Amino acid sequence: MHPESALVEASNSPGNAANKRSAPRADPVKPVLAVQNLSIGFKGINSNLVDGVSFSVAPGETLCLVGESGCGKSITALSLMGLLPSPPAEITSGRAAFDGKDLLSLPKSEISEIRGDRIAMVFQEPMTSLNPVYTVGEQISEAVRRHRKVTKAEALDRALEMLKRVRIPAPEKRLKEYPHQLSGGMRQRVMIAMALANDPSLLIADEPTTALDVTIQAQILKLINSLQKETGTALIMITHDLGVVAEVADKVAIMYAGRIVEAGPVGEIFENPQHPYTLGLMSSMPSLAKRSGRLVTVAGMVPPADAMPNGCRFATRCPFYTPDCSRNVPHLSQLSEDHAVACFRVPLEENIGEAAS
Ligand SMILES: Nc1ncnc2c1ncn2[C@@H]1O[C@H](COP(=O)(O)OP(=O)(O)OP(=O)(O)O)[C@@H](O)[C@H]1O
Ligand SMILES: [Mg+2]
Repeated sequence: MHPESALVEASNSPGNAANKRSAPRADPVKPVLAVQNLSIGFKGINSNLVDGVSFSVAPGETLCLVGESGCGKSITALSLMGLLPSPPAEITSGRAAFDGKDLLSLPKSEISEIRGDRIAMVFQEPMTSLNPVYTVGEQISEAVRRHRKVTKAEALDRALEMLKRVRIPAPEKRLKEYPHQLSGGMRQRVMIAMALANDPSLLIADEPTTALDVTIQAQILKLINSLQKETGTALIMITHDLGVVAEVADKVAIMYAGRIVEAGPVGEIFENPQHPYTLGLMSSMPSLAKRSGRLVTVAGMVPPADAMPNGCRFATRCPFYTPDCSRNVPHLSQLSEDHAVACFRVPLEENIGEAAS
């Protein structure tokens, strides 16, 4: 669903949400995954739907990939897992370094060995990822046996252990149940148990709580967060919800129409957002919108895939637009050591009066 408009809260200091995490991480460690210049095209569409995307994530770290519906979050994740439907999709450039290999150029057999083992995924809708004809225990133990040489009994023990770790009540009983006997929240716990059963070094969670009730969402997020900190797994959390970001992120990459437009540590992004699109997203967050200083309306919609504008893809909605924005592509450049923005008009505060008038 493409929102027709967004309000930008243009203010010098849009609040201090998430400043608890504003300190940069000391001693950067070697990333588990480093994606460089990833572009994805689709047959019949001239522009790349994911265009020159780069990010990395380190052990125990959470990167949130954020953006509106259709901006390319899921196809980015699917491409890393070798799950992009190809055709029509095609990776047109990029590297994804993981464990000394490039995930984007691995043969299918090798990537399917890594998938569900070193890299695991949790999707939005657990019911579509669980098989209705097998019990929870059978499915988790099968996920273990696909990658480990263990007996059925050992795999079932592991399944039970995992159900306990995801704090499912009466785990022995649940092991013998079928997916339809569980609530949505329980099913998502099962998916998390299955994803973590082989101790992956990277977990990709694509909108894992969107389909759940708000109270259950919070519990699942807390669970993912605590398991991740226990195990040191790197986490890529895909979401369009800045509330989720504030809850779990260490660092954030904001995507718009297939490009990363802003990236940095979560505290920095919340305290000093610089891309006009980031400001637009923040205005949709009630706690930030309440602190409204000056409001600037951003009319328009995300450009359709087959009609991406030249230059900056946000140009059509941007209150800070200048003709230069349509002539050239603003590349992500460092505003400070760990804060990068792709906008010709930064620092934005110098342009706010002009945009509001
Ligand atoms: N199989 C496909 N064939 C053609 N186009 C596709 C296909 N899958 C995705 N797309 C297009 O690629 C773009 C990115 O889609 P993607 O699913 O990655 O978005 P998203 O950011 O995950 O959105 P959402 O928040 O709705 O999940 C969209 O324009 C979508 O229409
Ligand atoms: Mg998606």
